[in-house]
Amino acid sequence: MHSIRTMTTHDYDDVIVLMKQTPGISLRDADSRESTDRYLQRNPGLSFVSEADGELVGCIMSGHDGRRGYLQHLVVRPTHRRQGIANGLVNRCLTELESLGILKSHIDVLKTNASGALYWEGQGWQLRSDIHRYSLVRSGSEKT
Ligand SMILES: CC(C)(COP(=O)(O)OP(=O)(O)OC[C@H]1O[C@@H](n2cnc3c(N)ncnc32)[C@H](O)[C@@H]1OP(=O)(O)O)[C@@H](O)C(=O)NCCC(=O)NCCS
Repeated sequence: MHSIRTMTTHDYDDVIVLMKQTPGISLRDADSRESTDRYLQRNPGLSFVSEADGELVGCIMSGHDGRRGYLQHLVVRPTHRRQGIANGLVNRCLTELESLGILKSHIDVLKTNASGALYWEGQGWQLRSDIHRYSLVRSGSEKT
């Protein structure tokens, strides 16, 4: 059995361990403790963890910009996959976002993450071929 609850700043260490152990997930400066704390404060009640036998076995983070929702860092520990945990986590995010009036959400998936792509497409998410994402790092900063 697993349960889902809101992610707090105290979950940071466990979430990072889970992500570091997972191929296909890349960690950036934006995943620092400070940035994660800020993200959780700006997007209260929109990130979740799944626990089984007292251990963290899954996570997801989400937020919105007032118009669209953004999901990230969906990870389920390999030993606990195919039990509906990912779908439970995604549904919690989408339900909370909807309650805030956000009906459309996006997720970035690395092109090298073939199984991640299969998961999202299998759940009916539309692969966008009409959009290029452009990014800019302000000069003087090495942050990504
Ligand atoms: C992708 C991932 C989150 C799925 O977690 P999970 O808990 O096993 O998924 P669920 O059990 O909720 O599966 C839900 C559905 O997706 C399907 N599914 C799960 N993983 C899948 C995969 N790799 N490929 C295709 N379908 C998949 C399941 O069969 C199930 O289908 P159904 O709804 O028709 O029954 C997990 O494999 C993972 O952590 N992968 C590494 C990290 C990653 O790639 N994250 C996504 C990119 S951001």
